[in-house]
Amino acid sequence: MKHYNIAILGATGAVGQTMIKVLEEREFPIDELRLLASPRSAGKELEYMGVKYKVEPVSPEAFEGIDIALFSAGGSRSKEWAPIAVEKGAVVIDNSSAWRMDENVPLVVPEVNPEDVKWHKGIIANPNCSTIQMVVALNPIHKAKKIKRVIVSTYQAVSGAGAKAIRDLEEETKAYFEGKYYYPEALPQHIAFNVIPHIDVFLDNNYTKEEMKMVNETRKIMHAPDIKVSPTCVRVPVFYGHSESIVIETEEPITPEEAREILKEAPGIILEDDPHNNLYPMPIEAAGKDEVFVGRIREDFSFDNGLAMWVVADNLRKGAATNAVQIAELLVEYGLV
Ligand SMILES: NC(=O)c1ccc[n+]([C@@H]2O[C@H](COP(=O)([O-])OP(=O)(O)OC[C@H]3O[C@@H](n4cnc5c(N)ncnc54)[C@H](OP(=O)(O)O)[C@@H]3O)[C@@H](O)[C@H]2O)c1
Repeated sequence: MKHYNIAILGATGAVGQTMIKVLEEREFPIDELRLLASPRSAGKELEYMGVKYKVEPVSPEAFEGIDIALFSAGGSRSKEWAPIAVEKGAVVIDNSSAWRMDENVPLVVPEVNPEDVKWHKGIIANPNCSTIQMVVALNPIHKAKKIKRVIVSTYQAVSGAGAKAIRDLEEETKAYFEGKYYYPEALPQHIAFNVIPHIDVFLDNNYTKEEMKMVNETRKIMHAPDIKVSPTCVRVPVFYGHSESIVIETEEPITPEEAREILKEAPGIILEDDPHNNLYPMPIEAAGKDEVFVGRIREDFSFDNGLAMWVVADNLRKGAATNAVQIAELLVEYGLV
């Protein structure tokens, strides 16, 4: 079996460290592994398969001989380094928003549009974490009954804003009980015992950039340019796992039972829908897992053909690292590296 040279840019970050774990768990066939980050992390050691690897500062030479480069170091680093990595012969799978809406770049969720990998020109984009779990849950229903409209409110974990935001929730919670003051470094407001209806920057239309990612990326991934999406993205004091309250309007009627039957068979989904026995998805249970969990499926009786559901997934895994590694697996399966 062929083995591949893999680089991870952003290896020291929340997503990067999860990528190392996911590559190890899924036994991705790796020949050489290069862990890259900023010069601040040079020399730091990270473990893969029980072996310690030294983190290297990113440089053009670091991409020499690399087959697949997994990027998770933010948009500006992706803009700067992805063309260099591609020029050196690597296929880049990028976790930032830098390339997602570029018409020359496929935006891929393997359960939804795996074939889009085939037209890549060097860069493949991994969607936003909130979008990934939503399209995994909605695409099977869309294929059966055509979704016209989606209204979604998210409850997003602090890990979605990176390693510093995880520390913010820890430090602010400790400070609260010690009667001390702490102001978050990576989040725009207090996060301990609070919820923040503000993720990424506000745009002229009064939605945030995070919310508009859910609108535009959903259309591109599902090949559904007319689907209407109305999102409200909210940060909550949870460490790992994003939750979403989703209401859809379908073209043809769909009963909750029909939706359950469809979702039970759908790839990447675990149905947890027995509310009378207190069974419904929760982030504390989804954390550390790769599937998208769906429950609380019920009729939305505020309009015709309405269906409500609750969708939860680990943002660092299915929302980022696992989805990226699945894309790398598709490249291998299709013989594209
Ligand atoms: N967190 C999520 O749930 C999630 C989900 C989907 C997508 N994403 C995207 O994934 C990316 C990484 O997110 P994260 O949550 O892992 O952030 P993070 O924890 O803050 O990690 C950022 C990583 O980028 C590296 N980096 C920063 N500046 C650099 C530079 N100048 N040169 C090279 N490397 C540099 C950091 O290295 P140092 O340690 O050396 O500073 C670190 O490894 C972002 O684009 C984010 O939008 C995140």
